[in-house]
Amino acid sequence: MGNEGRAARPVLLVHAADASGRWQEALATALPDVEVIAAPSEAAAGTVDFFAGWNPPAGFFAPLSALRAVFALGAGVDAFLRRPDLAAHVPLLKLGDAGMAAQMLEYALLGVLAWQRHLPAYSAQQSRAEWRALPPTSRADTRVGVLGLGAIGAEVAAGLARFGYTVGGWSRSVHSIDGVRCVSGAEALHALLERSDVLVNLLPSTPRTRGLLDHALLGRLPRGACVVNASRGDQLDVDALLELLDSGHLSSAQLDVFATEPLPRHSPLWRHPKVRITPHVAAITLLEPAVAQIRDNLQCLLDGQSMSNVVDRARGY
Ligand SMILES: NC(=O)c1ccc[n+]([C@@H]2O[C@H](COP(=O)([O-])OP(=O)(O)OC[C@H]3O[C@@H](n4cnc5c(N)ncnc54)[C@H](OP(=O)(O)O)[C@@H]3O)[C@@H](O)[C@H]2O)c1
Repeated sequence: MGNEGRAARPVLLVHAADASGRWQEALATALPDVEVIAAPSEAAAGTVDFFAGWNPPAGFFAPLSALRAVFALGAGVDAFLRRPDLAAHVPLLKLGDAGMAAQMLEYALLGVLAWQRHLPAYSAQQSRAEWRALPPTSRADTRVGVLGLGAIGAEVAAGLARFGYTVGGWSRSVHSIDGVRCVSGAEALHALLERSDVLVNLLPSTPRTRGLLDHALLGRLPRGACVVNASRGDQLDVDALLELLDSGHLSSAQLDVFATEPLPRHSPLWRHPKVRITPHVAAITLLEPAVAQIRDNLQCLLDGQSMSNVVDRARGY
């Protein structure tokens, strides 16, 4: 089919691995004025106006010459920004919260509660059949540092503060969040780390944040601190983390994301007694709120209005 066979309705192409059918159906219901097709499709590449999906194969975007917008089915778009086949002039949209912030708050709470209630130490004691109470720590005396105060990070910081923890948050621009001490800048980051018993990383992966959590920064955390990484694995220096865990400077780590996923079987992280591993499930994309967000944004685009959650390519998020 050439352009002469172009459908009257704009075409949205979906690629979401083995869930493409489900997304196609939901998007078609939400967008009756759009023709929603799933990849692989017989339709000519030049007829596709929009894309919604996650991690299509290399070269996927190259033949989509009429593409007008790409809707990522996730909040972190670093993989999209690294693709040479996706032209820079095509607007890229990320999901803004869409039900992920509440899940991420649960994941952060898991790490903070484990630290506050001495879970790693009690697990170690259990392995030795050792019955010994450790001094309790109150929520107010538990200091949490949240890196990244975006759609997800801000909700996580606010939720932890509502629960009674002492929360500080760091972002590029200064935010104002009830109960959270918000800061920005390199010096403020150092100061925040120095008073964070639990560090929760929710920064997007960008050229400025990749490798940020290195030995020098992690070493600023107080002795006995815990690291929770739920944003992207490439921001954390795993060798530095292991060294600081083994030296006793850090007490534990809760890791959901890794530079290579799935985490290779030979990684020392798997068997480290102070490390808890989850397989990139801290906050999964929920179909209903994600479809509603894509629908609203696509409608704005079709009506000539501005869209929300458009990725700033220069900033990288
Ligand atoms: N593990 C999972 O299951 C899972 C699920 C969803 C998302 N994630 C990860 O979580 C990340 C955060 O999501 P989000 O929706 O909250 O992101 P977002 O809305 O894009 O917000 C990013 C936040 O990071 C801050 N930031 C970016 N670069 C910075 C820098 N160089 N220095 C200081 N602050 C910087 C931004 O500052 P400003 O506010 O000043 O712009 C903003 O507060 C995603 O990028 C993704 O990687 C993981």
